[in-house]
Amino acid sequence: MWKTIQPAPPDSILGLTEEFKNDQNPEKVNLGVGVYKDDAGSTPILRCVKAAEKELLETEKSKSYLPISGDPAYAAAVQRLILGAESEVVSSARAATVHAPGGTGALRVGADLIHKFNPQARIWVSSPTWANHNGIFGAAGFEIDRYAYYNTENKGLDFDKMFSDLEKIPAGDVVVLHTCCHNPSGVDLSADQWKLVAVLAGQKGWIPFLDFAYQGFGDGVNEDRFAVEQFAAAGIDYYVASSFSKNFGLYNERTGAITVVTPSAAEAMVAMSHLKTVVRTNYSNPPAHGGLVASTILNTPELHTMWLEELAAMRNRIVDMRKALVAGLAQQGVEGDFSFIEKQRGMFSFSGWSDEVVSRLRMNKSIYVVGGGRINLAGLTTSNIEYVCAAVAEAMKS
Ligand code: LMR
Repeated sequence: MWKTIQPAPPDSILGLTEEFKNDQNPEKVNLGVGVYKDDAGSTPILRCVKAAEKELLETEKSKSYLPISGDPAYAAAVQRLILGAESEVVSSARAATVHAPGGTGALRVGADLIHKFNPQARIWVSSPTWANHNGIFGAAGFEIDRYAYYNTENKGLDFDKMFSDLEKIPAGDVVVLHTCCHNPSGVDLSADQWKLVAVLAGQKGWIPFLDFAYQGFGDGVNEDRFAVEQFAAAGIDYYVASSFSKNFGLYNERTGAITVVTPSAAEAMVAMSHLKTVVRTNYSNPPAHGGLVASTILNTPELHTMWLEELAAMRNRIVDMRKALVAGLAQQGVEGDFSFIEKQRGMFSFSGWSDEVVSRLRMNKSIYVVGGGRINLAGLTTSNIEYVCAAVAEAMKS
């Protein structure tokens, strides 16, 4: 069968990591994939994760299957984290949460669920968005459209255009929104703008699908759930795909969740029954380890505190690297105002570097940046920042 089939292109983000691994240049820098690195350039296992794993090693009694929806203690911990411990959604039991393999798995389970009942819905993603949104919703069988988001002129949010696009989206369609730390731009909505969008969703009847992969990387764990709370207040159906890959550093444990929020507990039970069918016919039930680690941390006060401190350290280091990059580019005489990099949130920034600059950086200096100019600030360290800034100056001149 394969004789006549063309190979698929490499993934635009994970494909870059494969190339990076094969690069022999000792000065190589990976600013591609969204993975946190410390100032030594490694992706550490958090201390709270190690402590939870140690406890699990001693106390875990079985590797038997989890329920289809995952461990109920995990789902409860996820709900408290993403919706807020005091959330009325939690106390009214009007949300259904299942453990999914990572944020990507969560998006796909949600997409499959929607497709089961509403296959004619269109999926609206921001322009631009994480490349895999197109892949995931496309693979689930949906047509995808775009709403305005990023303003290339002022490197900020084009809220007026975004809002007027959202006003035209028909009831029943699905709008994918990045709850915080927009991927790839790092440009988020303000609190007032989220309020307006949540009210609009209620008025128009389109369904928000919140991608919540970076909780804690914006302004803090509680601050970053602001958008989730606004949709809760609107009393509408919506979806939240959340992930522990970044904020717990559990990348390879594939630990995420899909939460369906509905107006009532009765509807949440119906949603849960269908979520289970979607999961059962895909991967049957989730892998246990990452979920056990996350719920152990979230349910143990000392580990929870340790986690918040470690998360704050990651967030602050990225902010420091944003400042260092802006200063370093100026020092190297790179023309232009790069102050927007400091205003953005999360791991990413849309650098504004052309594809030609991106390709020169890779070919001449082994610096890997995602096509379109998205950089992962967490790939910068105090040791490589000067090398990167000098390389950018050179690439922009030639
Ligand atoms: C990214 O955008 O780099 C991350 O979310 C990793 C991925 O799966 O693409």
